[in-house]
Amino acid sequence: MGLFNVYPLYDIEIVKASGATLWDSKGETYTDLYGGHAVISVGHTHPYYVQKITEQLNKLAFYSNSVKMPIQYELADKLCELSGKKDYKLFLCNSGAEANENALKLASFANGRKKIIAFKGGFHGRTSLAVAATDNPSIVAPVNATDNVVFLPYNDEAALKDTFAKIGNEISSVIIEGIQGVGGINVATESFLKLIRSLCDQYGAYYIADSVQCGYGRSGKFFAHDHAGVNADIYSMAKGMGNGFPIGGILISPKFEAKYGSLGTTFGGNPLACAAAIAVLDIMAQEKLIANAEKLGNEIMNELRTIKGVKEVRGKGLMIGIEYEFPIEELRKKLLFTHKMFTGNASNKNVIRLLPALNIEKEHLTKFVEALKAEAK
Ligand SMILES: Cc1ncc(COP(=O)(O)O)c(C=O)c1O
Repeated sequence: MGLFNVYPLYDIEIVKASGATLWDSKGETYTDLYGGHAVISVGHTHPYYVQKITEQLNKLAFYSNSVKMPIQYELADKLCELSGKKDYKLFLCNSGAEANENALKLASFANGRKKIIAFKGGFHGRTSLAVAATDNPSIVAPVNATDNVVFLPYNDEAALKDTFAKIGNEISSVIIEGIQGVGGINVATESFLKLIRSLCDQYGAYYIADSVQCGYGRSGKFFAHDHAGVNADIYSMAKGMGNGFPIGGILISPKFEAKYGSLGTTFGGNPLACAAAIAVLDIMAQEKLIANAEKLGNEIMNELRTIKGVKEVRGKGLMIGIEYEFPIEELRKKLLFTHKMFTGNASNKNVIRLLPALNIEKEHLTKFVEALKAEAK
């Protein structure tokens, strides 16, 4: 009986949510500055989102990928339009790990190579290849371990050039988060992403932009990698894509040729998930949420920098890391139990991670700054 105990849990039961507000079973309210782990992009229970999923549920919840589903084409068109990757093609799956798994595999199918460059502090998921490309030995099972992944320091141009000079012709792909999430909100420099682009072109490798956490408008551009002004070959996405409805996908550049059977999934692209994802894109466009993320993010980051004990504030848009001079776990508990605010942590124990919905109100963020000021020693 019971659940396999893999998550340390707070003794709180969330029973209702709206926008950036959560209610627990005792009637207490909380502000969600964590977006359920970067997932809530357009706010909890947004009426348009609820309406679109409900309408679809009443029509057709599921059929297999053996028949045409116009709703998948609608999603692909809207995604290419809003992201600006107009000539890219969409493959749909169910999660971030699966998106990266497919991206890495597609690159390897295309150039016939085995080696992957990934970065220290990175997180790409828990399926076999995604976890092998994740810099955390404690989540890599012996069966996942491989010599095919080379880990390099993030933003280290000399190490990247050196590795390409030595084994460039063996490298299938380079996978990188535009902003490392789990690692503690570390932003890739524009020149580093440009260098990845040019080395991949020079050596016939593929540039995979892991946008599972930093994508979908969170950084103030559709993909955080867009800040560098160069295109990746594959963008992986998940979290914000369905606002809580499980869906993931990869956007694939025209360089790749599709072959029947090379990629596939049972649940990926199901009509309910597509309805959720279309609703998210419609809301993002209608409410201009990408611009909102950029504006609010800049305002709040400047305010956070004035707080005592804060060493550095990093990030872009509404993907923000607040690095303190000390471990933040106690502070996070005070934020949750005294100020009723959910925030995120990171593998860097001094960093609070903010990942709110992109239409969070300024008032919520101001209250958060006030709470941090009240707790500043
Ligand atoms: C950057 C990044 N990639 C991939 C993943 C894996 O996504 P999922 O948990 O949906 O498999 C995550 C999840 O935290 C992530 O942050």
